[in-house]
Amino acid sequence: MADSIILETQNLRREFGALVAVEDVSLRVKAGSLHSIIGPNGAGKTTFFNLLSGNIPPTAGRVLLRGKDITNLPLHKTAHLGIGRSFQITNIFPNLTVLENIRLAAQALGKDSFRLFRSYRAFPRYEARAWEVIEQVGLVNEALLPARTLPHGAQRKLELGMILAPDPEILLLDEPTAGMASEQEPELMALIQRIQEAGHKTVMLVEHNMNVVMSVSDTITVMHHGAVLAEGTPAEISANETVQTAYLGHLYEDTAVTP
Ligand SMILES: Nc1ncnc2c1ncn2[C@@H]1O[C@H](COP(=O)(O)OP(=O)(O)OP(=O)(O)O)[C@@H](O)[C@H]1O
Ligand SMILES: [Mg+2]
Repeated sequence: MADSIILETQNLRREFGALVAVEDVSLRVKAGSLHSIIGPNGAGKTTFFNLLSGNIPPTAGRVLLRGKDITNLPLHKTAHLGIGRSFQITNIFPNLTVLENIRLAAQALGKDSFRLFRSYRAFPRYEARAWEVIEQVGLVNEALLPARTLPHGAQRKLELGMILAPDPEILLLDEPTAGMASEQEPELMALIQRIQEAGHKTVMLVEHNMNVVMSVSDTITVMHHGAVLAEGTPAEISANETVQTAYLGHLYEDTAVTP
């Protein structure tokens, strides 16, 4: 089915004391699409991802994965169900090589990860998977270097490789280009698009660079003060007056970019 819904939230809500960080968000993500969440700082984007991946529980509402309720499942359970969540940079083992980091990420979610001897026998399989991912993210020349020696841009590719290693169906990427030099961003985004299209993955992306968002997204949801302000195609969002007033207009002024 071309338009099947892989992930859905129903009135998803998260409060921190008196603050409503995510306010009754109902959203549907089409399988195989690249769905971006944009919005000003503090809009609730990261909290929303945390709720999707089970990093934190919601105050109210539901999360459905292919129609199945996964609302209160913790991070490792949603990971086993195919939701890959970006690692923070600290999840990279700095003294291990790129290959070892990616192999461990593949292994961590392998079926036999808790069975030592089987895991030993499965080692070549994880090693092969790691090389596959290394090629995909373009780190072949860096594969045997300790992660700490990589330039920032390559570390972001390594993080992507670590999310990709267990072959998730859905990738939740929270500002994957953060801290990168702007001239390196298109390369990483092209890579993310290749992963989405060639691997038939669903990608949810939080990204501040509007040029990037407008060029890669199938669907954009705009969040503002925890709630959904608008949703649509890049063209619809660029033309939406409420979005222009609340967010984009002022953002484009700041960065002198024309939509
Ligand atoms: N653990 C927490 N405890 C208390 N308040 C929190 C917590 N996490 C987030 N918040 C608050 O919730 C609101 C939404 O934060 P969130 O990090 O989700 O925003 P964001 O859209 O990701 O912002 P940014 O673009 O800056 O990354 C903010 O006001 C933030 O201060
Ligand atoms: Mg955030």
